[in-house]
Amino acid sequence: MYELIKRDGLARRGRLHTVHGTIETPVFMNVGTAAAIKGAVSTEDLQQIGTQVELSNTYHLHVRPGDEVVKKMGGLHRFMVWDKPILTDSGGFQVFSLAGLRRIKEEGVYFHSHIDGRKIFMGPEESMQIQSNLASTIAMAFDECPSSVADRDYIERSVDRTTRWLARCKAEMARLNELPETINKNQLLFGINQGGVYEDIRVRHAREIAAMDLDGYAVGGLAVGESHEEMYRILDAVVPELPEDKPVYLMGVGTPANILEAVDRGVDFFDCVYPSRNGRHGHVYTKQGKLNLFNAKYELDGRPIEEGCRCPACRTYSRAYIRHLLKAKEMLGMRLCVLHNLYFYNHLMEEIREAIEAGNYKAYKEKTLEGLQGK
Ligand code: GUN
Ligand code: ZN
Repeated sequence: MYELIKRDGLARRGRLHTVHGTIETPVFMNVGTAAAIKGAVSTEDLQQIGTQVELSNTYHLHVRPGDEVVKKMGGLHRFMVWDKPILTDSGGFQVFSLAGLRRIKEEGVYFHSHIDGRKIFMGPEESMQIQSNLASTIAMAFDECPSSVADRDYIERSVDRTTRWLARCKAEMARLNELPETINKNQLLFGINQGGVYEDIRVRHAREIAAMDLDGYAVGGLAVGESHEEMYRILDAVVPELPEDKPVYLMGVGTPANILEAVDRGVDFFDCVYPSRNGRHGHVYTKQGKLNLFNAKYELDGRPIEEGCRCPACRTYSRAYIRHLLKAKEMLGMRLCVLHNLYFYNHLMEEIREAIEAGNYKAYKEKTLEGLQGK
């Protein structure tokens, strides 16, 4: 299912073949938490800006509109009218970051909805059932992402529970994929490595889950407050422990520089809210660094956000006009910035894939990193 096309150092150019089409890797997945990319971005826009994979969240869709509603509407693909791959995160991370009061037990997590406060229970089986109802292409295992300040002892116990949860996820996914009423009977399951900043726990956990023959492997629990150097050190230790014939996904990461560094360490999949969140605040990416379009210096700037960019914003509009829209709080301002930023990330990944294919990834990385530090 995962096809390795070319290696350049540890960087990998590959393809993941799925029932919803082929994903060219390394890839950046565009985050649409509640089956919508924030910033009034439609699925048609996603086609235009080169999105390969849309990412949604189990927890959010379970709370609203409800995964049963999505199932009755034919699954997430039909509901949001997107026929390419969709990855759903398991709810684990969102429960830990959003839900206020919660209790973690062996069976799962008890918490309150951030929408209406009602009590919810989610364990590995519930997460798989919800993701099966959503019928995403790739389901993520239900894990615990421990707090970055949790002590070593807690992390060890938490990681062991996450491993037991993973075994339950795998069994439940196998059962669901056999049911006649299941929409996507080929749903893939990725396991998630945890272990905080402790290399030895990370490596032990990576070896345990590598032996469980999953469709892919994610590195979770990073970009939660540790330094970039610590994150790279963990990747240096963990990625070589994961099966070579499976894709590797670094969850929730990150800046363009983070992505360039992680690809160089063998990572294939990424997702992050930065391009959409920054876009909504008028912060736009260029090869020479980020610009804040609210800045007065763009008031009379007739240039596009980035010279030569083929995105829907840059092909038509000036910095001055987009700045005006942002200042006037017109929705179009935000939308254009988000479209540019997502295009920038998708285009960066395209360049990364080309550089690996050409066998000059290191040089490409150094040159691009240098430019990004620009402004
Ligand atoms: N998104 C970012 N980090 C994580 C993580 O550790 N676990 C899950 N499930 N999702 C994430
Ligand atoms: Zn652009």
